[in-house]
Amino acid sequence: MTTAQPLDVQPTPLALLLLGREADPKSERGVECPGDLPSPSDPDLVERARAAKEKLGDKVFVLGHHYQRDEVIQFADVTGDSFKLARDAAAKPEAEYIVFCGVHFMAESADILTTDDQKVVLPDLAAGCSMADMATAEQVAECWDVLTEAGVAEQVVPVSYMNSSADIKAFTGKHGGTICTSSNAKRALDWAFEQGEKVLFLPDQHLGRNTAVRDMGMSLDDCVLYNPHKPNGGLTVEELRNAKMILWRGHCSVHGRFSLDSVNDVRERIPGVNVLVHPECKHEVVAAADYVGSTEYIINTLDAAPAGSKWAIGTELNLVRRVANAHPDKEIVFLDKTVCFCSTMNRIDLPHLVWTLESLAEGNLVNQIQVDKETESFAKLALERMLALP
Ligand code: 13P
Ligand code: SF4
Repeated sequence: MTTAQPLDVQPTPLALLLLGREADPKSERGVECPGDLPSPSDPDLVERARAAKEKLGDKVFVLGHHYQRDEVIQFADVTGDSFKLARDAAAKPEAEYIVFCGVHFMAESADILTTDDQKVVLPDLAAGCSMADMATAEQVAECWDVLTEAGVAEQVVPVSYMNSSADIKAFTGKHGGTICTSSNAKRALDWAFEQGEKVLFLPDQHLGRNTAVRDMGMSLDDCVLYNPHKPNGGLTVEELRNAKMILWRGHCSVHGRFSLDSVNDVRERIPGVNVLVHPECKHEVVAAADYVGSTEYIINTLDAAPAGSKWAIGTELNLVRRVANAHPDKEIVFLDKTVCFCSTMNRIDLPHLVWTLESLAEGNLVNQIQVDKETESFAKLALERMLALP
């Protein structure tokens, strides 16, 4: 038998990053999470969160995205999809602190849309979004150069998914484009095609393709895929000139797990099942589904469904579990056989929320998300265009 020896190795920066204690300046994720977190096994956590929130009173407004854990969502003043939360954040100018239980790009958008006096706080700064990280400011600037050289940039209107960094939103605003979410992507594309002939859709290829083909009657041939890791995006000048939709090669790893096999399999296992998926799923999954929509749409559809109906849901597991528990009279299952949490959404847990609320209640501002003024002004332009969509 051997006894474990203490390892004489220093943790690598990557290991620290995974633990949420360090910075990656190239990532849309944030920086260090200072202070000591309460233990997850602390039996008083619920009471501590309640007491700190009560002490803060109207000074704090807690937003919770639908993918958040139950232990966190119970303390949200409002819950919603990305669009609703952006609007709700902007509609609460009296709250000094906006605690955003969601991911980094959502907190950035809230900072852009709130007043200068308000402070937006993300309980764990490592709660990023891998999709948002798939389009960096440098890559997108390079792409624009490629479009300019191909002679198409003047016809192109950028439409960026909310799941992008503030830098990408600023690029979008600067070039006359708009932001969209999964609940208004068609309206955003309708608007964009009134302004120009082509759209550069960032960073989620699937939402772009699904909206163009499923909702707007375009063909798959109208879409080309720009790969930022290849010279000229891997596209010829002719391909760029012929395309209507130039899709950025980004995706969500959580929704990427659902396949056509999962749809076929659940239809075989549960006769009469309705398949309801998020538009970040691959095109073949969306094409085979019965219903497609944002997280808020998924909840509303299940709320309105008749008792006894059967549903297979293709989105993040915290949300699917919560709606299944809320509707014991309906059969609601997860579309895939393996579990599928969004690991970064899940980083916000009760210990982080308690630490955040208690710190704020003691007058210590922690984990503030602050977008610089220049980025903010252009990003705000793009976000306001979205909020003004008909
Ligand atoms: P919703 O806008 O539908 O809430 O989606 C946000 C998201 O990150 C989905 O992965
Ligand atoms: Fe990003 Fe996907 Fe998580 Fe949504 S589910 S926050 S797109 S990684």
